[in-house]
Amino acid sequence: MTSTRIDTAIIVVAAGSGTRLSAGEPKAFVGIDERSILAHCLEGVFRAAQMQVVVVAPDDRVGEALAIAHDEAGERRELVTVVAGGDTRQESVAAGLSRVWPTVQIVLVHDAARALTPPEVIDRVADMVRETGHGAIPALDVVDTIKRVDGERIAGVVDRAELAAAQTPQGFRRDILAAAYERATAEFTDDAALVADAGHDAIRVPGSALGFKITLPDDLARARDLLRREERGADGNAHRAGEDPAAVRLPRVGIGTDVHAFGGDGSLWLAGLEWPGERALSGHSDGDAVAHAIVDAVLNAAGLGDIGTHFGTDRPEFAGAHADAFLGETARILADAGWFVGNVSVQMQAARPRFSARRGEAETALSAALGAPVSVSATTTDGLGFTGRADGVQVFAVALVVPQH
Ligand code: CTP
Ligand code: MG
Repeated sequence: MTSTRIDTAIIVVAAGSGTRLSAGEPKAFVGIDERSILAHCLEGVFRAAQMQVVVVAPDDRVGEALAIAHDEAGERRELVTVVAGGDTRQESVAAGLSRVWPTVQIVLVHDAARALTPPEVIDRVADMVRETGHGAIPALDVVDTIKRVDGERIAGVVDRAELAAAQTPQGFRRDILAAAYERATAEFTDDAALVADAGHDAIRVPGSALGFKITLPDDLARARDLLRREERGADGNAHRAGEDPAAVRLPRVGIGTDVHAFGGDGSLWLAGLEWPGERALSGHSDGDAVAHAIVDAVLNAAGLGDIGTHFGTDRPEFAGAHADAFLGETARILADAGWFVGNVSVQMQAARPRFSARRGEAETALSAALGAPVSVSATTTDGLGFTGRADGVQVFAVALVVPQH
């Protein structure tokens, strides 16, 4: 397993709401071109030396973050971990730290919002920590003349030779960073400040003008402009290599439904989770109607038959299987046929169990198993029909599948 050889991790914090950008959704998921801020940031991360990549996403975007990370990771998929963040950046970093592999000795913390950071900066930080054991921070000289102010009054000049503008990723020995986070009670503006407060110093390495943080709408416009210029080839024309419009296969949608009755043995398994104390569903495998509807929707979208085609009685290994096994195998079947899943939207009709409290957990489990975002809504049917009488559950799923390039 790869984790035994990996001594470095990078925590990419992407759980902020992006208030100042105010683009209508969490900042990391806003598009720069056809790809999001997070996708561009991870492109740089995966071009750097191999390291564990822990993406910290908003609670309700974990599945989407996983899909983006897998897309960018290519053959490095197994290096990806995604975890839900907290209300502050510091809490989000702490959440990321809790998922760093035991073998890791050096941890880098990076803002997803610094989407265009070149891979060399990431390597430079990691190398400096590895060589010196000190913290390392990429920083740029300050070019503006800086004044100390007191309200509107200019109170003095600051010698800019003494200043540097800090960027990310900031790298530290894992033990030092973890101890500093454990003792932190106040909020700090960056990780270096938090580590400094715990009594450890850091060294500056050269940053990059491309490492600016997308904070305000103007920053996003600048990033867009930079990418447009990059995409223009030497001939000055916008192009994307190898694109032949005539050969493009379109995305496809598919639908799946499933119904299971209550009355099975053991505990209830539904939406990839075990529900202690709830009546079990009966049926083939664990009776998880959510998982089965997803499988049908995905296979149907790709024109690959249905659950019976691939998971029939000739595959006894799936007899007692849970959602993770079904969804993982479905993703594999799809990949073999040249498709990947864009997303799946599920609606469950059930009087029991009460789903809303565990929605995030279920979406995370299902998304992780399928390798694509799965969102689940649930409704009761106002006491009507078999779902209203709590005789069973009924599930509908719609999937989007996208051709691989
Ligand atoms: N971040 C995070 N969790 C938080 C807050 C911030 O993971 N609770 C991340 C952001 O996603 C971002 C980085 O920390 O990549 C730097 O934060 P900032 O630029 O301030 O992003 P936001 O907090 O999202 O933006 P704003 O402050 O404008 O709302
Ligand atoms: Mg913020």
